[in-house]
Amino acid sequence: MMVNVRSFELLLWLSSVLCLVSVSTAFDPVDNYLIDCGSFTNTSAGNRVFAADHTSTFTNLSSPQNISINASLNSISSGNYSRLYHTARIFTGPSNYSFSIKKQARHFIRLHFFPFVHETYNMSTAKFSVSSQSFTLIKDYQSQEGSSVKEYSLNIASDRLVLSFTPFANSFAFINALEVISLPDELIPQSAKTIDPQGSSTGNQSLQRQALETVARVNMGGKDVPPQNDVLWRRWVSDDAYLKHSNLVMFVSNTSIVNFTDSVTENIAPRDVYGTATIVNSGSDPNSNVNVTWNFDVDPGFEFLVRFHFCDIYFNNISSLAFNVYINSRSAQLDFDLHKLPSYAAGNPYYMDFITRESDNPKLHVSIGRSTLVDAFPNAILNGLEIMKINNSRGDFDVAESTSPKSSKTRVGLIVGVASGSCISVGLALVLVLLCRRRNRLARGHLKADEQFAVKEGHISAIFSSSKIGYRFPFVAIQEATDNFSESLVIGIGGFGKVYRGVLRDETKVAVKRGGTQSHQGLAEFRTEIEMLSQFRHRHLVSLIGYCDERNEMIIIYEYMENGTLKDHLYASNFPSLSWRKRLEICIGAARGLHYLHTGSTKAIIHRDVKSANILLDENLMAKVADFGLSKIGPDLDQTHVSTAVKGSFGYLDPEYLTKQQLTEKSDVYSFGVVMFEILCGRPVIDPSLPREKVNLVEWAMKCQETGQLEDIVDPTLTGQIKPDSLNKFVEIAEKCLAQCGIDRPSMGDVLWNLEYALQLQGDEGKSSPKGETSSPNNHSHSQTGLSNTEFSTASVGDLAGVSMSKVFAQMVREEMREM
Ligand SMILES: *[C@@H]1O[C@H](CO)[C@@H](O)[C@H](O)[C@H]1NC(C)=O
Ligand SMILES: *[C@@H]1O[C@H](CO)[C@@H](O)[C@H](O)[C@H]1NC(C)=O
Ligand SMILES: *[C@@H]1O[C@H](CO)[C@@H](O)[C@H](O)[C@H]1NC(C)=O
Ligand SMILES: *[C@@H]1O[C@H](CO)[C@@H](O)[C@H](O)[C@H]1NC(C)=O
Ligand SMILES: *[C@@H]1O[C@H](CO)[C@@H](O)[C@H](O)[C@H]1NC(C)=O
Ligand SMILES: *[C@@H]1O[C@H](CO)[C@@H](O)[C@H](O)[C@H]1NC(C)=O
Ligand SMILES: *[C@@H]1O[C@H](CO)[C@@H](O)[C@H](O)[C@H]1NC(C)=O
Ligand SMILES: *[C@@H]1O[C@H](CO)[C@@H](O)[C@H](O)[C@H]1NC(C)=O
Ligand SMILES: *[C@@H]1O[C@H](CO)[C@@H](O)[C@H](O)[C@H]1NC(C)=O
Ligand SMILES: *[C@@H]1O[C@H](CO)[C@@H](O)[C@H](O)[C@H]1NC(C)=O
Ligand SMILES: *[C@@H]1O[C@H](CO)[C@@H](O)[C@H](O)[C@H]1NC(C)=O
Ligand SMILES: *[C@@H]1O[C@H](CO)[C@@H](O)[C@H](O)[C@H]1NC(C)=O
Repeated sequence: MMVNVRSFELLLWLSSVLCLVSVSTAFDPVDNYLIDCGSFTNTSAGNRVFAADHTSTFTNLSSPQNISINASLNSISSGNYSRLYHTARIFTGPSNYSFSIKKQARHFIRLHFFPFVHETYNMSTAKFSVSSQSFTLIKDYQSQEGSSVKEYSLNIASDRLVLSFTPFANSFAFINALEVISLPDELIPQSAKTIDPQGSSTGNQSLQRQALETVARVNMGGKDVPPQNDVLWRRWVSDDAYLKHSNLVMFVSNTSIVNFTDSVTENIAPRDVYGTATIVNSGSDPNSNVNVTWNFDVDPGFEFLVRFHFCDIYFNNISSLAFNVYINSRSAQLDFDLHKLPSYAAGNPYYMDFITRESDNPKLHVSIGRSTLVDAFPNAILNGLEIMKINNSRGDFDVAESTSPKSSKTRVGLIVGVASGSCISVGLALVLVLLCRRRNRLARGHLKADEQFAVKEGHISAIFSSSKIGYRFPFVAIQEATDNFSESLVIGIGGFGKVYRGVLRDETKVAVKRGGTQSHQGLAEFRTEIEMLSQFRHRHLVSLIGYCDERNEMIIIYEYMENGTLKDHLYASNFPSLSWRKRLEICIGAARGLHYLHTGSTKAIIHRDVKSANILLDENLMAKVADFGLSKIGPDLDQTHVSTAVKGSFGYLDPEYLTKQQLTEKSDVYSFGVVMFEILCGRPVIDPSLPREKVNLVEWAMKCQETGQLEDIVDPTLTGQIKPDSLNKFVEIAEKCLAQCGIDRPSMGDVLWNLEYALQLQGDEGKSSPKGETSSPNNHSHSQTGLSNTEFSTASVGDLAGVSMSKVFAQMVREEMREM
């Protein structure tokens, strides 16, 4: 939190300190480190004493130098700054404060900065980063005029907290004061409900391992609450400056009515916060209908924990106080009524938490407004609001250097480059040739660009120690979670190794992928996967929970996806058949994930292994793209493609990629087109058990489409469900994705748009059924064995050539390509 403490405020602050000595008896933190950095004497500030770090015994500072400075007299006499800001520590090299932690729990870390004038060190030029545990709290300190306090809360799971200051080359770091305080357990929940930019709630998200940075802490009702009036020394600022239309509101206050309960104590927010409020000023017009909105500047691309504090200090004589609560115009809570809460009594405070998903919007706004319930009056009340930024997947709080979409120049370059090459359709023979060539090359011991990329950094531990990616788990924790890799918990076996179901100590369900013994290629995929997953976090990409590289293990821990793979739901298992609407939604989800990969950062990420087995479904059947082991960073600005050895899964491979070994995002688009037909037809991409012309789904579907017999191949369980317009749109998109030349294929963004359109064309059909599912049992017609298999084995050898090859290939290519 950046708070500019003006001298006037400080004056008030200090004077009120002197009068208000007896505030908090309630909370006594187990760990409570208050340090006046660079000072030789203890300093009181408010009702607390900050210890001089030169003399205190509990600070443990390791720094290559021992430099502390005093503010020059005229620097501080112009404003009456707290004595805390009269001294500072200067670090010219990496330095650590280390604190012994008695309570393993969430802790506040507050960093006080005041770049005062000094003859040797110009503090406003200081460039440095600050990190703690695995989190980068400040990546690049930006000097601000006056004093500022940055506040973070971190879950500390060890007996030592290390706060590291790292100056940039030729610069230095400084700090004026710092606080490390253990927090009451109930303050930050284990999880909170998420709210999508699209307005749909996606259930709870865990906050357990996240670090939070306070962005705003606001007291509604137009009054500041200074730290000494808060048991956790939080500063609450007046909502005045954030109100959009201040003429629509009324500030009200009655602190004596606030009656804390067992579940909402003063630890959550002080009496001064719950005892004042901003209410909608309806001018006693029962027909008035307004929203009251507060606007906040936030960094785009982050998730935020938003906490609303409520306490009815005003309307206590009415029967219904229902109103709506919105975040970014999305409903967070409709018809919320304090009075209807279980065991509500007058003056009881209450709070609600929500997590907003990443968005590009540099503003976050919250509103309260009239409920649509008939008996509701145009009343609404808000007492306090907190906004906390959640660390990103890289473990920091900084906006990425550039999140702008690729420039049009890049796109033109791409198109020209691709267009200048000729496109040829590819047969099986070509695959064969390519495969043989590659094998030879491998045999000759050539190191491909791919592998250079992967192994140049050498030893595995070196790969991770330098970067702050993901969370490193101790091996024993994973053993515990998986019952020592019990065979009964195996949920999948892939080229990489086995995947286990597991439960962490905090009861988070996880999927644990354990690699075989370390080999270079395994290591490369392992590394790629962790890097990709920790850089890119999105609702429709499976999230990384952590990894383990202890004892030469290669273990990746993912969020657990309750409903397994899309493939299983389409044909490979006995799940009930998915409705058409659900299939479209899954398709849209996966397309979103891929679209994000392609455009979410300056360089496109190409997944390279898009297939139904890599699209996973969570408990609500929401799709998430998984398995980034083969992913590659897309072309540089001045290049049109990435040249690379062909990898991927047979049946899904882009023909252009196969022939030219040039990779673009359009290769993923091709594979996605294949998945679309899988979804439509509910059968494997290559099914050697079928008559020859039907073996390859894509060929067969295209043929049927040409002859107008597409209905024949639609998954029979969908009969009668699909609106013709929706079907036509869907097939049209799939066909475009499967264009031979990448340039003719749409972008994932276009695909996404058109899929949404196809969903719209479907209308509300099937929407209302209980879980969005039709309940017909799985009666897919294409069994892998049985009659059709017999047909296959009695066919003539000539006819068989392609067929048996594809079967062999399906196996071989997979293994082969995974290995290379
Ligand atoms: C600064 O503030 C302190 C405490 O409020 C007060 O005693 C002192 O007189 C002030 N000094 C100046 C120069 O205003
Ligand atoms: C300064 O504060 C520390 C920690 O509270 C305490 O141990 C020490 O005795 C204090 N020193 C003086 C001179 O008051
Ligand atoms: C100081 O911190 C180091 C780790 O940074 C630790 O090994 C040492 O025991 C600590 N000393 C004290 C007195 O806390
Ligand atoms: C750091 O320097 C101060 C004098 O500036 C001195 O009193 C103190 O003992 C030094 N501390 C260490 C650890 O060298
Ligand atoms: C800073 O001021 C204190 C007394 O106010 C003095 O003891 C100390 O030596 C000064 N430090 C420097 C680096 O001038
Ligand atoms: C600071 O702490 C980090 C991590 O605990 C450690 O790697 C580094 O060596 C420490 N630096 C110093 C100067 O003590
Ligand atoms: C300190 O650096 C800032 C920014 O570079 C500059 O504007 C200012 O004049 C410098 N102050 C002094 C006292 O050198
Ligand atoms: C979701 O989180 C809230 C706390 O914000 C908690 O009360 C609720 O029980 C959680 N629900 C689930 C299903 O975990
Ligand atoms: C505050 O609330 C109490 C209890 O309802 C009431 O007795 C008192 O009059 C209220 N004070 C004001 C200023 O409204
Ligand atoms: C506060 O609530 C408790 C019950 O939760 C009740 O016994 C007490 O009378 C209330 N106090 C006030 C001032 O309303
Ligand atoms: C409820 O109280 C408010 C002010 O506290 C007053 O304006 C309003 O008329 C009262 N309503 C009823 C139904 O008594
Ligand atoms: C209040 O905001 C919500 C969400 O943006 C909107 O749907 C609603 O129409 C607004 N009400 C009024 C009266 O503006």
